[in-house]
Amino acid sequence: MGVWSCILPFLAVALVASVSRAAVVEHTFNVGNFSIRQLCQPPRIITAVNRQLPGPTIYAREGDTVVVHLVNNSPYNMTIHWHGIFQRGTQWADGPAMVTQCPVIPGGNYTYRFSVAGQEGTLWWHAHISFLRATVYGALVIRPRGGAKAYPFPKPAKEKLVVLGEWWDDDVYSMERMAFMTGIPARHADAYTINGKPGDFYNCSAANQTDKFEVRQNRTYLLRIVNAAMNTPLFFKVAKHSFTVVGADACYTTPYKTDVVLVSPGQTVDALMVANAAVGRYYMAASPYDSAIPRGPPFSDTTATAVLQYVGVRHKASRPVLPRRPAVNDTATAYRFSSSLTALLLPGRATVPLSVDTHMFVTVGLGVSDCRPEQLLCNRTSQIFSSSMNNASLVLPKDTSMLEAHFRNATAGVYTRDFPDTPPVFFDYTADASANGTMQYTTKSTKVKTLRYNETVEMVLQNTRLIAKESHPMHIHGFNFFILAQGFGNYDKNRAVRRFNLVNPQERNTIALPTGGWAVIRFVADNPGMWYMHCHFDAHISLGLGMVLEVLDGPTPETSVPPPPADFPRC
Ligand code: C2O
Repeated sequence: MGVWSCILPFLAVALVASVSRAAVVEHTFNVGNFSIRQLCQPPRIITAVNRQLPGPTIYAREGDTVVVHLVNNSPYNMTIHWHGIFQRGTQWADGPAMVTQCPVIPGGNYTYRFSVAGQEGTLWWHAHISFLRATVYGALVIRPRGGAKAYPFPKPAKEKLVVLGEWWDDDVYSMERMAFMTGIPARHADAYTINGKPGDFYNCSAANQTDKFEVRQNRTYLLRIVNAAMNTPLFFKVAKHSFTVVGADACYTTPYKTDVVLVSPGQTVDALMVANAAVGRYYMAASPYDSAIPRGPPFSDTTATAVLQYVGVRHKASRPVLPRRPAVNDTATAYRFSSSLTALLLPGRATVPLSVDTHMFVTVGLGVSDCRPEQLLCNRTSQIFSSSMNNASLVLPKDTSMLEAHFRNATAGVYTRDFPDTPPVFFDYTADASANGTMQYTTKSTKVKTLRYNETVEMVLQNTRLIAKESHPMHIHGFNFFILAQGFGNYDKNRAVRRFNLVNPQERNTIALPTGGWAVIRFVADNPGMWYMHCHFDAHISLGLGMVLEVLDGPTPETSVPPPPADFPRC
């Protein structure tokens, strides 16, 4: 039983079998401000965990309990989300501000406690409030209980983390406040980063700005690639090397060979790479994929780099070889990667449910709305950008977290249970925006979709071309989902059903919806609680591109939301 995967039907058995060896992995996350120099600019104050960018990596083994003491020494309200962790029985530890908790105030602290049973692979953690995750993020690696020999692929010589990010030479908290107050989206990042560093292609020659990886020729390395960037899907390549993808979002995949990886914000990819090039120096490169049509405001079409250096290289100062990067709008390459992955079938692994209780058809995209009263700098003579799911544009409650309202059965004034199963009108979703001008207007609300415990949900996600079509990375808290099919244009049920993969569909927590296209996902609502579903572009979260799944309690205490822990932060 060495090999575990995403949703385990035999979870109880696993716990009994492994309980004797499960450990407690404990960390203290001291969130505070510190000053850092990037891009040869004057030092800038950022908020980060333990003065590290990225923050500390959490290493655990399947079945362990993770305990993180968050000590908030920053001047901002703070929460941390454990992206991809199911939080079964620990719903209060999920982290999104005002969905499952009130924030930890400056000077406050809170202990997050959760189990990593039934999950293996690369996940990550990040602040889930304001734009603070731009610098408050790190990796969360779950190794098999049996150690590296228990991987369902040849044991790598070593593992390397490749955490991709975005850097603003700016105060991201103020940027978020201004964007909210004016209704004008914040500007794009100044640079992309690999493990916090921009690399050699930004006009700056500071020596410590490029990350280095040492490899020995002919050894195999496991790269754990995380896209922690705020708003940008990234292509990842290594000059003269190729990859075998073996996992994504902490779910094992059928080995997939490729020389380019696409990771959208929120996603992770685990890939084996054999160091089989000539002894030398090679660039690893992360470059943007901009799927928006028409293209949005100008953004940083630059490349973050790190150096892969072979042990024994003669000329340590020689210029590394650069990979040919995909064009910034290379949708064909992005889609080929995202649609080619399939799950690795393993004994004990849950497979896609074949019958469906609830069908939803959900449009995802941009729109416009009126300024809200709190947006004090908003130009009230025109409309501002908004985004929505089924035309409902989400605002989070201010005084009570949604989980608390749910738990106390006091939802009045916090949220309503009327998130619609279909858009209010059916229209040509992916036609030129101008043809659908009247469909763009959205209003703000806090609507949830209520699900019975254990029901199976099939959701068609349909991107619209209102304002612009774009590949939105749609993420669901508390669950993984199976991706049955995806494609471009308007969803056509009869044609799509014939393409459903009901054998080994990939399982993920974040799907990069094809730009101007659709995807069909399925999941079992076997985790009671309040689960945020949203676009993982932070710029779109604040515009309202999200909704919340409310999953009711099951029949037993184990299948119900427990009371909040004693030190739970209050609003
Ligand atoms: Cu990493 Cu709510 O997300």
